[in-house]
Amino acid sequence: MSPCVQRGYFAGQVVLALILSLAQIVVFTLLGIPYGVLFAVAIGFTTLVPYASALTIVLVSVLLALEDPRTGLEVLAAAISVGQVVDQVIQPRLMGRIVGLLCLVPFLWFLLRGKLSGEMKVKGLCLNILVITQGLMGWYMVKSGLVNVPEVSHYRLAAHLSLAFSVFGLAWWMLLDLDKEQDSPSDHNAVSYRPWAIGFLLLLCAQIAYGAFVSGMKAGYGFNTFPMMGDEWKPDGLFGLSPYWKNFVEDKFSVQFIHRWMGTILILGLLGLGWKAYRSGLLSILQTRRMKWVIGLVSVQFLLGVSTILLIVEYQVSLPVIHQLVALFLFAGLLGFIHSLSPKGLEIGK
Ligand code: HEM
Repeated sequence: MSPCVQRGYFAGQVVLALILSLAQIVVFTLLGIPYGVLFAVAIGFTTLVPYASALTIVLVSVLLALEDPRTGLEVLAAAISVGQVVDQVIQPRLMGRIVGLLCLVPFLWFLLRGKLSGEMKVKGLCLNILVITQGLMGWYMVKSGLVNVPEVSHYRLAAHLSLAFSVFGLAWWMLLDLDKEQDSPSDHNAVSYRPWAIGFLLLLCAQIAYGAFVSGMKAGYGFNTFPMMGDEWKPDGLFGLSPYWKNFVEDKFSVQFIHRWMGTILILGLLGLGWKAYRSGLLSILQTRRMKWVIGLVSVQFLLGVSTILLIVEYQVSLPVIHQLVALFLFAGLLGFIHSLSPKGLEIGK
């Protein structure tokens, strides 16, 4: 985490501690708890230290219970309830805003000081619009579920994940634009691999959106075998919905079928592209290194995907989370490779 992000995170935690203290002061005062303000501030600010707040709540409740068990119980219930409201309702919104500010404040700062080129102004503006859209999408996504039912529409989940990848992708591209890494000269004909790499990037984006569909529809639970689905390559019930297009977005096992085979096409395609580009001898040192990263990451991601389908029942959280994280690295890797083949990237070695 960069010092700037660390500061933002810490500032967020302090603001949360303040909000928690104030909320506890109000509740304790209403309940007429002796030394309510003192206890409220102690509980609020110990949230800055892991587990310390829970310990303080227990300590304060026990102390008060020694005087009057009823007051002790009241404080315990009130402190836990207020903590839950702050954790579940306020914290996610606040963190979202901090991320938004982390983007907007530096952008405005550099913009007003005239430090941005025309291109960076446009990209910075797009990045901020994307972050704001992502915030709105997060709110809309939670509205579709998570309140009474811990489920979210798979369309909204896919839109939210795709936006998150877009925010990351644009920020990463801007960073690559600023990268001054030295490189050996590359043959101009290497550019011929760019349209292929862009094509695979589009396929990767579709694969990521389908990953969100699989996750949102819980389509990974069932047919936990690979390469066959059960005893068949294409089980009978698949693609049975009408109209036919619905199978691509509404039928969970058809969606799983698409995700597993699109992943297979992706790995074979990227391995083929890598092999061809490597054998051609046209790539510079930087382009070769970035291409090797793509090959390594897509291989790991494919194996993780297969492991997820085989073992998701046992590892319901850890495997999907790692699978999603490596998808992000792969996305970054492929963008890096495409960037090194772009006119700006090609200039580096000159
Ligand atoms: C190689 C390229 C692949 C990419 C980029 C990719 C990407 C993703 C992404 C982004 C998700 C969403 C994770 C989440 O939101 O929790 C996902 C979910 C999933 N993927 Fe893949 N995947 C790939 C290959 C595969 C393969 C080959 C399989 C199976 C053979 C597979 C099985 C799954 C399963 C079962 C889930 C759902 C996990 C859950 O329930 O949360 N993936 N994938």
